[in-house]
Amino acid sequence: MKKLVAFSLAMGLIFGATAMVGTAQAAKVIKIAGMKAEGEPETIGMHKFGEYLEKLSNGKYQVKVYPNSTLGKEDKYIADTRRGTVEMNATGTQVASFHPAMAMMETPMMYDSYAHAHRAINGGVFDLLTKGFTEKSGLRCLSMFPLGFRHFYTKNPVKTIDDVKGLKLRVPNITLYTTFAKNCGINGQAMPFAEVMSSVDQGVIDGGDSPFSDITSTKVYEKCPNITMTGHILVIHALFINEKLYQSLPDQDKAWFNEAAQKAAEDVWQLVEELDKTAIAEIEKNGGKVSEATPEMKAHMLEAAHRTWELFKDPNTPTMYVPNADEIFAKAESFK
Ligand code: G3P
Repeated sequence: MKKLVAFSLAMGLIFGATAMVGTAQAAKVIKIAGMKAEGEPETIGMHKFGEYLEKLSNGKYQVKVYPNSTLGKEDKYIADTRRGTVEMNATGTQVASFHPAMAMMETPMMYDSYAHAHRAINGGVFDLLTKGFTEKSGLRCLSMFPLGFRHFYTKNPVKTIDDVKGLKLRVPNITLYTTFAKNCGINGQAMPFAEVMSSVDQGVIDGGDSPFSDITSTKVYEKCPNITMTGHILVIHALFINEKLYQSLPDQDKAWFNEAAQKAAEDVWQLVEELDKTAIAEIEKNGGKVSEATPEMKAHMLEAAHRTWELFKDPNTPTMYVPNADEIFAKAESFK
C-alpha cells in the first residue's frame, strides 16, 4: 500500500511539473477582431501587429487575426473587447459613442493628403483625440492608421451634387456620418459595413461612399460602377486593447504591445497610396469609371463639412460635443 501511495505521489509530481512547464511555455493567444477583408489596410495592420508582437516578445504572445466581421459586426466585437472576451480589435469612429472626440479622427475635409494626416496624428492629434477615452470606454487606443479617403460609388453617373441628393446612399451608423450626410443634403441609410453588398442587391441603397480599398474588396463597383472622387473623409482606424488586460501586463510587455502597434501603423501609412492605385486599376480594368468630382460638388461638400465642424464645438449637440475641439482643429491645421 505504501509503495502504491509513493508511486502515485511521484507520478502526480511528474505530471504536475510537466503541466507547469507546458503552461509556462504556452504562448498567450491574443484575438484581434476587425471588419475588413484580407488585403485591406485594416487587416494588413492587424497582421503586421501580430508579426511584430510575436517577434518582440520572442513568441510569448501569439496573435490570431479575425478579419471581415468573423467575430461579429463592429458593434458586437467592440462590446466583446470591452468585456474582455476578445482581447483586441481594429475599428474606427464607432468608438465615438463613448468619447465624441474619437469621431474627430474622421473629421470631414480636415486633411489635404495622407502626408498631412500622418504628420498631424503623429504630431499630437492622436494624444488630443484619445485624452480621456480609456476611462470612458475600458479600451486603450494603441495606434491609428489610414484606410483611405472616401469617394462615392453609385449605380448611375454623378455629375452634380443634385445627382447625389435624390439617392439612397449607405452611411455608417455613426452620428458624425449621419449628420454630415444630412448637411450635404444626402438621403443617408445608416447600416453596418457588412450589410452594404446585400443592400445594393436588394435595391435598399443606390450606392454609398467608401475608400478604394473597400470598393474593391466588396467588388461593389460591379453593381455601382461610377466612382466619383470627392475624398470628403479620410477613414482612420485604430488598434484597441482591453484596458484591464493591458494594465495586467508587465511593463516590458506593455512596451512590446505599444511598439508593435506603432510599427504596424507606420507600415500601413507607407502602403496606403500604393493600395489606392492598385484598386483604381482594378476598377477600371473591370469596366468601372473613376472620375474627379466637379469643383462645385467639392465646394458643396466643403461647406457642409464646415457646418459639421461647428457641431463639435456646440455643447447643445452632446453626442458630438468635444470640449477641446478648437485645439484639435488648430493642431491638425498646423501640420498642413
Ligand atoms: O471609422 C468608421 C468608418 O470605418 C466607418 O466606415 O464604411 O467602414 O463602416 P465603414
